[in-house]
Amino acid sequence: MLREQFARRSPKDGCSPQGQCGCCTVWVDGAARVACVTPVRRVEGRAVTTLEGLADEDRRSWGEAFAAAGASQCGFCTPGIIMRLAALGGRGRPVDDRAVRSALLAHLCRCTGWQSVVEAADAVLGGGRPPVGETRDPLLAAWRAQLEGPAFQTSGPEVALGGGGFAEDTAPADALVAVPAGDGFVLDETLPSARGRAGKVQGRRSTVPLRAPVGVPAGEWVLTLQTTWVEPAYLEPDASWCVPGGRPASPLANGGAFGGKRHSPLPAVAQRLAGETGRPVRAVWSREDVVRGGPKRPPVAVGVDRNGNGVLRAGRSAGDGPLAGYADAVAAGLPGLAVEYVDVAGPPTSVDLRGAGWAEAAVVAGALPFALSGTTGPGLPVEVVGRRGGRARVTIGADGSVEVAVWAGEVLDRVTLRSYCLGAVHQALGWVRHEAVAVDRHGEVHDLTIRSFGILPARDTPHVHVTIHPDDGLPVNGSDAVFAATAAAAWLADGLPARWPTRRSGWDDEAPGAGGEVVP
Ligand code: FES
Ligand code: FES
Repeated sequence: MLREQFARRSPKDGCSPQGQCGCCTVWVDGAARVACVTPVRRVEGRAVTTLEGLADEDRRSWGEAFAAAGASQCGFCTPGIIMRLAALGGRGRPVDDRAVRSALLAHLCRCTGWQSVVEAADAVLGGGRPPVGETRDPLLAAWRAQLEGPAFQTSGPEVALGGGGFAEDTAPADALVAVPAGDGFVLDETLPSARGRAGKVQGRRSTVPLRAPVGVPAGEWVLTLQTTWVEPAYLEPDASWCVPGGRPASPLANGGAFGGKRHSPLPAVAQRLAGETGRPVRAVWSREDVVRGGPKRPPVAVGVDRNGNGVLRAGRSAGDGPLAGYADAVAAGLPGLAVEYVDVAGPPTSVDLRGAGWAEAAVVAGALPFALSGTTGPGLPVEVVGRRGGRARVTIGADGSVEVAVWAGEVLDRVTLRSYCLGAVHQALGWVRHEAVAVDRHGEVHDLTIRSFGILPARDTPHVHVTIHPDDGLPVNGSDAVFAATAAAAWLADGLPARWPTRRSGWDDEAPGAGGEVVP
């Protein structure tokens, strides 16, 4: 209702009607509520406030605090988070970090890793100051974001307040709406009617066990690792729109979803349907469409010997083309790994996702010396050099806290680089320990709700301290090195178990990933 009929753009649709991501949070009589599961009849006679309706001064202070702390990257989740935090502040009681992290349990963010969000909340609610607030040049911030993302990204108060320019927000009001149905798309005048015609049944978190779809090759290995299907979990579902004869809107309006939308099919769909109908067309994926049809990093099985030689088997979905560039990526992480491909039944695989192949190999390379010496546990520093020259050293303490040192050439914008490092730590901890979606032996994806992906919530995210070491070199990506070094440090801290995610139960041990045929 708020988005489609009243054209309010600050409440975002990250999962509707699952009610699980918090992106659509508004106030009902001053209390934070997720709009997508609040029936209109329940708010009859009550006041509904979107972020557009906050007092100007409040909007300004929240937007500025988020920008100063680096608490917004793509800015898709932040309007909902700000509404939740602003409601917390409206109760007139002192608000501490614990209360903020509890309030954030209703939200998910893929980009920022929470800590900067807590710092922004502290600046507004607790009278604190963001630790790295400084005069910033928006062009240098965008440059740094592009190195880390990697995609064009602007930052600033207006982005945190929801003005990132997302395709779903900029589509013409008279556009037809296209949503997936069967092997094609259905078109209708509005999103609810199109979804109604598509006959969508909402996805659920399943009880289907996790599977490691690729088996470890035979060999005299000192270290092995199997990974499973992981949802990249960018918060803004794929969307595009196009006018007849025009160029389609990018699904990457303000960030690259860490490679997840680089080859989104929706721009071509919008363009084709606009040409066929002679009307503007907006093409939209729902959350479960993203899970079923969006790319996943290839699940792998690795075996490595004491000299760093071994085999990395990469699962690729049957029907996917060759994983172009994948073997080079693996070689950059650990040159002694031969790459084999195994066709597996499952959602599409892609080398576009953050450090795919390289990060797995770099993690094994980083952990190998410790495996050889029989030293595992917390407190072990892991250093990783990124593919594009950045470098990171990460140590996870006995209390779970994370110490990061990063070298990424000329810093350009400290706030942005730090924000990406915090986000990389959060993403890596999730990847190693918690994140997975169940895919059955026939390749069908079963965990279709955004909460089932295992994204680390704010309350369970440890404290992270980032030290940036400036140098005179060209600016290079630093957060991918942080991502791989954190993953290796977390794996070591957990004792190098042979299967990720290390802290999820419910595996299909009857089918430990025999791996199928190795294909050329
Ligand atoms: S869109 Fe409403 S909670 Fe996700
Ligand atoms: S800033 Fe939270 S999902 Fe991008």
